[in-house]
Amino acid sequence: MLLRIRPPLEHETAMGTGQYRKALSVDNESAEIEGKRFTFDDAVDEKCTQAEVFERVGKPLTECCIDGVNSTLFAYGQTGSGKTYTMVGKTDCEANLGLVPRVFDHLFTRITEKQDEHAESGLTFKCKCAFLEIYNETITDLLSDSADVKIRQKKSGEVFLDGAAEMPVSDAEQTFGILQRGSKVHALPSMLRGAAPFACRSRCAENFP
Ligand SMILES: Nc1ncnc2c1ncn2[C@@H]1O[C@H](COP(=O)(O)OP(=O)(O)O)[C@@H](O)[C@H]1O
Ligand SMILES: [Mg+2]
Repeated sequence: MLLRIRPPLEHETAMGTGQYRKALSVDNESAEIEGKRFTFDDAVDEKCTQAEVFERVGKPLTECCIDGVNSTLFAYGQTGSGKTYTMVGKTDCEANLGLVPRVFDHLFTRITEKQDEHAESGLTFKCKCAFLEIYNETITDLLSDSADVKIRQKKSGEVFLDGAAEMPVSDAEQTFGILQRGSKVHALPSMLRGAAPFACRSRCAENFP
């Protein structure tokens, strides 16, 4: 778990007399607030850039996927704490891009490298994405109006989404475009949104037909 502290926003620093007091201090793995210390796997403060957050969590998790290990990035925090900024970021400039577009970029770069490296054996990766919103135990498929999605569990214990629309994707730009289009059809106003998982599944096979 990585703890990220965001910088104060303009209207927050302008509050009261225009002074704000920093209540939290962060070192590499912990945060201290009013004498109490909380420990995490990693902790960063307001100076940490989007690129650095990607290096610390996005890149290692993408490498896990490439190595065949299921990986999930999950942002948790109160409204206004910086979840959307951290996950999606802003598309106005490269420096503001969040984890998701950076992960897509890295994922497809690594897939191309792997395919080139193992061209002789015909190694191929196939990626599909799904985008769902979960609120009050109701699942909304953001990529399809008609899908009836159920969360089910296999005998092996593996949890899967039955009926979710899955789109085949082959590059980062296309995948991020699907995410942005899906974001516009949110069934709920942003304040009420519970979780909006965006899943990108990749399957690789040697000697693909
Ligand atoms: N690390 C950061 N650096 C600069 N601005 C940030 C940072 N994190 C969040 N913000 C800004 O703070 C505000 C709230 O962040 P947001 O991501 O929308 O919160 P949440 O999704 O958790 O409700 C937004 O205006 C966002 O641009
Ligand atoms: Mg948000």
